[in-house]
Amino acid sequence: MEIKIEEISGTNLSEYGKIPISFSTNIILQVIPRVKGMSRIEFKETILKEPIKVDHDASPNLSPFNWKDNFDLSNWSFWLAKQGEKAVGGITLAFSTPGVNMLEGREDLGVIWDLRVNPEFRGQGIGKKLFVTALERARELGCSFVKVETQNTNPMACRFYSEMGGELGVINRFAYKDNPQETMLLWYFSLREGKFWIP
Ligand SMILES: CC(C)(COP(=O)(O)OP(=O)(O)OC[C@H]1O[C@@H](n2cnc3c(N)ncnc32)[C@H](O)[C@@H]1OP(=O)(O)O)[C@@H](O)C(=O)NCCC(=O)NCCS
Repeated sequence: MEIKIEEISGTNLSEYGKIPISFSTNIILQVIPRVKGMSRIEFKETILKEPIKVDHDASPNLSPFNWKDNFDLSNWSFWLAKQGEKAVGGITLAFSTPGVNMLEGREDLGVIWDLRVNPEFRGQGIGKKLFVTALERARELGCSFVKVETQNTNPMACRFYSEMGGELGVINRFAYKDNPQETMLLWYFSLREGKFWIP
């Protein structure tokens, strides 16, 4: 059945929040500094003995149900991917919101705050449809760049962002004080003329 992308309001994220964001993986991208000091960094696909399960919604601050209490959503945009009446994916674009560190106080930067596809519907092009929709909006808003955060423990998302034309702008091995084994990866998508590929 056809997938339709529908813009929704940030005041009602109940359907959105029910779409699972969790994933399991037995592969991580091990981040290896090669030289002391001014280090070269390499990524090595490493197979874990036991798969890990990651669920960002388990952290109350990250769950869409709580965004309205934590952030001013007036300049944010939200979309659902729907198959008939069923919400199978969602994406959120954050823009121009004082106090949101990820936006760096810049007016030419949009942030993909969240992207999720129901596990049963992954690998069917839905993430790509949502992503292109959000980047088109960012371009309309006058953004030169869109940025998104992921981790070395999410190789599927890394492949997805790389496939979407992203460039790895920041590798921060020391970003997460509660999760020191994880590395923060910030992907950047240039929206400047001729740069971003829209299918
Ligand atoms: C990341 C995610 C949103 C991708 O959505 P999706 O609908 O599965 O992705 P698509 O089918 O649109 O994939 C587009 C391209 O990305 C790449 N890709 C996506 N998933 C991949 C995977 N598991 N392995 C390798 N490449 C992958 C492929 O190149 C694919 O194109 P192709 O199928 O023509 O080869 C989805 O896997 C998801 O919801 N993951 C859990 C939540 C998450 O990690 N969100 C991002 C947080 S930063």
